[in-house]
Amino acid sequence: MAQKTLLKGRVLSFTGTPFEGEPTEAVKISEAVLIENGRISSVSDADSLHNAHPEAKVVDHGQHVILAGFVDAHVHYPQTAMIASWGKRLIDWLNTYTFPEEMKFGDAAYASEIANRYLDLTAAHGTTTMCSYCTIHPESVDAFFLAAKQRGQRVVAGKTCMDRNAPDGLRDTVQTAYDQSQTLLEKWHGIDRLSYAITPRFSPTSTPEQLEAMGALWAEHPHCLMQTHLSEQTDEIAWVRDLFPDARDYLDTYEKFGLLGPNGLYGHVIHLEARERDRLRQVDAALIHCPTSNTFIGSGLFDMAGLMRDGHRVGLATDTGGGSSFSMLRTMASAYEIGQLRGTPLHAAQLLWLGTVGSARTLRLDDSIGNIAPGMEADLIVLDLASTPAIAQREACADDLWEAIFPTIMMGDDRAIAEVWIAGQPVRT
Ligand code: GUN
Ligand code: ZN
Repeated sequence: MAQKTLLKGRVLSFTGTPFEGEPTEAVKISEAVLIENGRISSVSDADSLHNAHPEAKVVDHGQHVILAGFVDAHVHYPQTAMIASWGKRLIDWLNTYTFPEEMKFGDAAYASEIANRYLDLTAAHGTTTMCSYCTIHPESVDAFFLAAKQRGQRVVAGKTCMDRNAPDGLRDTVQTAYDQSQTLLEKWHGIDRLSYAITPRFSPTSTPEQLEAMGALWAEHPHCLMQTHLSEQTDEIAWVRDLFPDARDYLDTYEKFGLLGPNGLYGHVIHLEARERDRLRQVDAALIHCPTSNTFIGSGLFDMAGLMRDGHRVGLATDTGGGSSFSMLRTMASAYEIGQLRGTPLHAAQLLWLGTVGSARTLRLDDSIGNIAPGMEADLIVLDLASTPAIAQREACADDLWEAIFPTIMMGDDRAIAEVWIAGQPVRT
């Protein structure tokens, strides 16, 4: 007989989007969720689930909140060991800290060590799916997919392609970028819960010929995601203008080579021009907000309210290790603070939605992950709303659930993650 588990607690699921109408009306709180064969089979009141499934193993989480595992829509797992490196802006930061670390990933053993370290750290922080850049080395892609496969995790990743403006030893070519990406895509895409994303790093580190080759590969595999960076820092945008004098704007450096489409993910997108916003919206591309990175590297303030109002698909991400945290709670806090600086604070329901359903939508995975509903894969986390003395004393005087959750969003970290389930199995963190 199939193993059944009944998790009891305050089960939080989204029935709509909290950016349309009153945010709390998009949320339903239930008493229990039934997990069966790695999937959620039922969400209901505890008594009826008990009665219908008396053989189910019961785990009672009391007042803890049970929600979908966090989905981190833009990370660089190879930057795990150099997170929180001091004092540089984007291009200097890449050259000083990032590229020297990424050079190490030609060593399969090192890549495997960091991939496993990264997945341990993120699981402890409640992140069950992420979309990661790897490095130019196929070894870095194999290591990440293998580690995720062994954990039964749903992840998206791809070989980061770059053939200029990077040091010796950290450049591929037009041909090797195409060939290795294709080989890795065919090797990993669709295996278990793994998917491949075609990954040109960004226009400054790819020649036009390499961007064209990536566009050709995407045209041959349009069901795959394509991820890159767009309009993160003003110096970077000026550099792109010099490198591509014929392009209308930064987005055009992708668009003219077939790298704009509905399965495209564009990280940061802070300093967009009107044409870029319009085109991204027209093609229904995904925009990924990386708030701790944007403040840490000094990039700027993402226009969440305006982009959501205009109907963009937006996800939330740490951007490890340009971002300064592995925690999606900390990332939500940072998104809240950026909203405040722009005069548009986000509601707790909006923040939780962005880090679950919203990110899953950007990865085109919202029919499988990011919410608690019958048929969804059972990637769940259990949030303790009183995980530290500081949070507990604030939560104790909350008048409603949202006031109780908000201190955990603002002050919580891995200590707030009481339990993690991946594919219906509890994870030791
Ligand atoms: N732009 C190109 N590469 C990167 C990266 O690794 N991190 C960030 N934050 N921006 C980038
Ligand atoms: Zn990035």
